[in-house]
Amino acid sequence: MLKQVTKQLALQGVRNFSVSQQNNYKVTVCGASGGIGQPLSLLLKQNPLVTDLSLYDIVHTPGVAADLSHIDTKSKTTGFMGADQLGDSLKGSDVVVIPAGVPRKPGMTRDDLFNVNAGIIKDISNSIAKNCPKALVAIITNPVNTCVPIAAEILKKAGVYDPKRLFGVSTLDVVRARAFIGHALGVDPQSVQIPVIGGHSGVTILPVLSQSQPQFKGNQDAIEKLTVRIQEAGTEVVKAKAGAGSATLSMAYAGARFAGSLLKGLNGDKNVIECSYVQSNITEATFFSTPLVLGKNGLQENLGLPKLNDYEKKLLEAAIPELKKNIQKGIDFANA
Ligand code: NAI
Repeated sequence: MLKQVTKQLALQGVRNFSVSQQNNYKVTVCGASGGIGQPLSLLLKQNPLVTDLSLYDIVHTPGVAADLSHIDTKSKTTGFMGADQLGDSLKGSDVVVIPAGVPRKPGMTRDDLFNVNAGIIKDISNSIAKNCPKALVAIITNPVNTCVPIAAEILKKAGVYDPKRLFGVSTLDVVRARAFIGHALGVDPQSVQIPVIGGHSGVTILPVLSQSQPQFKGNQDAIEKLTVRIQEAGTEVVKAKAGAGSATLSMAYAGARFAGSLLKGLNGDKNVIECSYVQSNITEATFFSTPLVLGKNGLQENLGLPKLNDYEKKLLEAAIPELKKNIQKGIDFANA
């Protein structure tokens, strides 16, 4: 079949047809009925690289899947509900995106979610190990800083851990930084490039404003205010939603962008770069977000720390002990 298509394209004068490009990927969303899961699934339904969209949750997925399946894009949408269908939802997945778990309410830190969400990540990771051990896994569930090490330990125990295939999604921090800088400078946020490194909670979120393109113009006071705003942007949304949850729409956008980048990398696109929280030897923290090149096997190259000024070096010093604590908590939980 492929031979025939190649021959046909050659006859039509299309010579650059790459047989290595697959263009058909299965993506599973775990937690697909939630505040993030639904709009994220809607955005993934529109991604032309996705042919099989698998929606898993403990509630409501038949309805969400039926609804999305009426959208006129090529992907097939299937709903899976309840723990006994988790394995089937994951089988053959190329990418698994996980926004399953409880979100924050006002006054809560991300770490307060640990008791409920750690168990959810453990169960889903065990099933990934059995059903799609080669999938690229993107964890949105908070606390991201701890959930990613939990998944790593579970996958290690199952003998299938590949650090190049496990990612904590910190894309929303980048998206927020681009939005705030774009508005402050009066430029299109889409034109702003800025690395946000570290982890995904409070002081572990480290926007490297000195490397912003275009340059962020502001005195030290403005820089510190913007840094804290990016670090606390999630709390801004939690407060504004007044008990109705945390960021869902902007997170869905960010999650779809990150999953889309994983798919582009899988598909052989060049220069796909995203910041993401991965196993790392760049700092003393064994998981850390830096800009990464994404490729056919997930993490292709870690681009390391961007150049930091003195203020950013201090932020990094503050982030490391907190990150180490968060990581150890995940390791201890998984091995308890
Ligand atoms: P939500 O409560 O609206 O949705 C969560 C969904 O997970 C629900 O549909 C629920 O049924 C499902 N769920 C619960 N247990 C499950 C299990 N064992 N297996 C599969 N699904 C299960 O919450 P929302 O707002 O969608 O947030 C989800 C998570 O994402 C939270 O932990 C939140 O803190 C986190 N988050 C992460 C961000 C990031 O930047 N990484 C940003 C915003 C939120």
